[in-house]
Amino acid sequence: MSRIPLRPQPVGEALYRLEAPPDWTAVFGFDGPLELEIGCGAGGFALEYCRRNPQVRYVAFEWRKKFAREVQHRADKHGIKNLRVIEGDARFAVPRLFAEGSLDQLHLQFPDPWWKRAHQKRAILQPDFAAFLRTRLKATGRFDFRTDVEERARQGLAVLEEAGFVNPLGPGAFHPFDPDEVPSTRERRYLVTGQPVFRARLQKR
Ligand SMILES: C[S@@+](CC[C@H](N)C(=O)[O-])C[C@H]1O[C@@H](n2cnc3c(N)ncnc32)[C@H](O)[C@@H]1O
Repeated sequence: MSRIPLRPQPVGEALYRLEAPPDWTAVFGFDGPLELEIGCGAGGFALEYCRRNPQVRYVAFEWRKKFAREVQHRADKHGIKNLRVIEGDARFAVPRLFAEGSLDQLHLQFPDPWWKRAHQKRAILQPDFAAFLRTRLKATGRFDFRTDVEERARQGLAVLEEAGFVNPLGPGAFHPFDPDEVPSTRERRYLVTGQPVFRARLQKR
């Protein structure tokens, strides 16, 4: 990413502080599918996905200040009106900000693998949180999970299936590469190098 002067305030600060779900239609100024990404990083997926799907209301969490502020800056600069970045820890804010059955899709792409045992509690795909995320989805909701770390891919998929997500390809099966799918920033690198990526597209039911 090129250097952009960072905003002085955390992006999405007012949303992050809310104690209860906002009226997302009022936040975005229009109604439409509501989707959530946890850990958007440099935003390669979020920005392009929002550009291609202007009807979607897209909320992206990112706890690294530089990424969060730059992604929102880029969205604003390019007139992408359907993306709201929230700077902060998704694990604490998602339970406050999203009502049960309110989300159409969840995106978790290349989550940090947290190799050290002491850090593993920071991983997003813990059994309780996975089960909680499932409750936030509509009955038709979907979970888009991608990673390059095979061990984490198998663990993550098992946690999601255990939490009740349905894998239309069968338990433990990964989705083949789809050239029409928007790649994330990290995924773009692997598409060039040919390094394997494990993709799962799960359904709430
Ligand atoms: C390995 S990067 C992948 C970024 C992006 N999804 C991609 O595929 O290029 C994981 C990102 O998740 C963010 N992250 C990890 N845990 C988070 C949390 N609890 N809340 C918000 N962001 C988080 C990290 O700061 C990092 O930017």
